[in-house]
Amino acid sequence: MFKGNPVVYQIYPRSFQDSNGDGIGDLPGIVERLDHIAALGADAVWLSPIYPSPDADFGYDVADHTAVDPRYGTLGDFDALVAAAHDRGLALLLDYVPCHTSLEHPWFREQVDFYIRRQSAERPNNWLATFGGPAWDRDPVTGGWYLHTFYPEQPDLDWRNPALVDAMQDVLRFWRARGVDGFRLDALQSLLKDPELRDDPPATEPFPFPLDPNYAQLAHVHSVNAPDIGDGVAAIRAAAGSDAVLVGEVYLPAAQRDPYLPHLDVAFAFELLFCPREAGAVRAAIESNPGERRPGWVLSNHDFSRIASRWGPEAARAAAMLHLTLPGAAFLFQGDELGQPDGPGHDPPYDRARRDPYRHPLAWDETPGAGFSSGQPWLAPLRAPDGPVSVQERDRGSLLWLYRDLIALRRELDGPVSFLDAPPGALAFSRGDRDVVAVNLGAEPWRDPPAGEVLLATHEASGPIRPLAGRVVRS
Ligand code: GLC
Ligand code: CA
Repeated sequence: MFKGNPVVYQIYPRSFQDSNGDGIGDLPGIVERLDHIAALGADAVWLSPIYPSPDADFGYDVADHTAVDPRYGTLGDFDALVAAAHDRGLALLLDYVPCHTSLEHPWFREQVDFYIRRQSAERPNNWLATFGGPAWDRDPVTGGWYLHTFYPEQPDLDWRNPALVDAMQDVLRFWRARGVDGFRLDALQSLLKDPELRDDPPATEPFPFPLDPNYAQLAHVHSVNAPDIGDGVAAIRAAAGSDAVLVGEVYLPAAQRDPYLPHLDVAFAFELLFCPREAGAVRAAIESNPGERRPGWVLSNHDFSRIASRWGPEAARAAAMLHLTLPGAAFLFQGDELGQPDGPGHDPPYDRARRDPYRHPLAWDETPGAGFSSGQPWLAPLRAPDGPVSVQERDRGSLLWLYRDLIALRRELDGPVSFLDAPPGALAFSRGDRDVVAVNLGAEPWRDPPAGEVLLATHEASGPIRPLAGRVVRS
């Protein structure tokens, strides 16, 4: 199911489909909507966390790794979802959160050695938390300090303790036995830290991806990405099995992801997610992620501004063409296929790191609740410029149909990327020796674009390529 250049559809369960009117998406709701994903032509579905959670970080603070949050359903509902996905030829990936739990996980009190804790008068070192502030808080259990790389409600697990590794490997085996095909591995760069807990030095150059400004003051040479990190990832692979699909979220630039790759099928290529709408930058992002880096291309996810807002709705079609014609895996965040923009979020924000705007529910139809919920939705469904799913399905020229066509065309593209000459602002690359992708991100029409049989066009299929348009041609 997960061969070649797969397309993985990311579901944010709270915001996909509510089946019982409580305003929160759930597993039976996902089953109702699987045909939408199958019709896109996706190969797999990745579910953001579905486990019981106090929601300090909306599911990424896990209170029980081997259960389903009652708001999302039951283990029985989960089994039904696995079966329904497999019936449609879709692999199912869960989000596995190895680096921390919720403070409310029973382990925090009952398995003291499962966490990174120290006894000392002052904080053990100068490490900072990803969301800002010190990474150490007073430990209510031991009276010392506990480490939290993310929110204080997310204490860090100690992957240098073999008993903890065993316990977390059991989690992988539990879900594999229930039919799960693989996992998206959360925040892997945090799996192993410096065992001596040495201070991080001040940052001397900017990190290439967005960071909280307080966190960005230090260069994270000891608090993440220990030299032996591959051993930790290998332990995950050993338990998940050689045939499991493992997708690493490694929030590091391309070259620094290499030690993780021997144990992964895919690692997110964040270079494209943070790339401005500019041909030179896009080319550099693509060239830093050749096939051997096993790139998972991503334009949007639940953590960052959506592509339709970052690049503008007028660029949504060109962005889709770039995204889906690259070799490797492509990750499509729910709603991007409609051109969903960022929303207003909630006031006051649910997420302290202010990521509500990227997490609004999908708009399925033109009814008042947009088909998402018959009750009061936790965040309002957002309508994209081309309309909800029901409208875009009837319009052969909609963005939704372009996504379907691109995913179908993707099956025919083969071979590595090789860039060709193009005028300023434009991009042209070949896939293998037959096909050329030409996308114009500049302000001027591209008057003599690559010639050949046009396999797919975002706009006109002949003549110049207008700004923010693209074509795939076969010679
Ligand atoms: C990952 C998730 C993000 C979460 C963090 C901590 O980056 O994508 O949503 O806050 O890990 O688990
Ligand atoms: Ca619900």
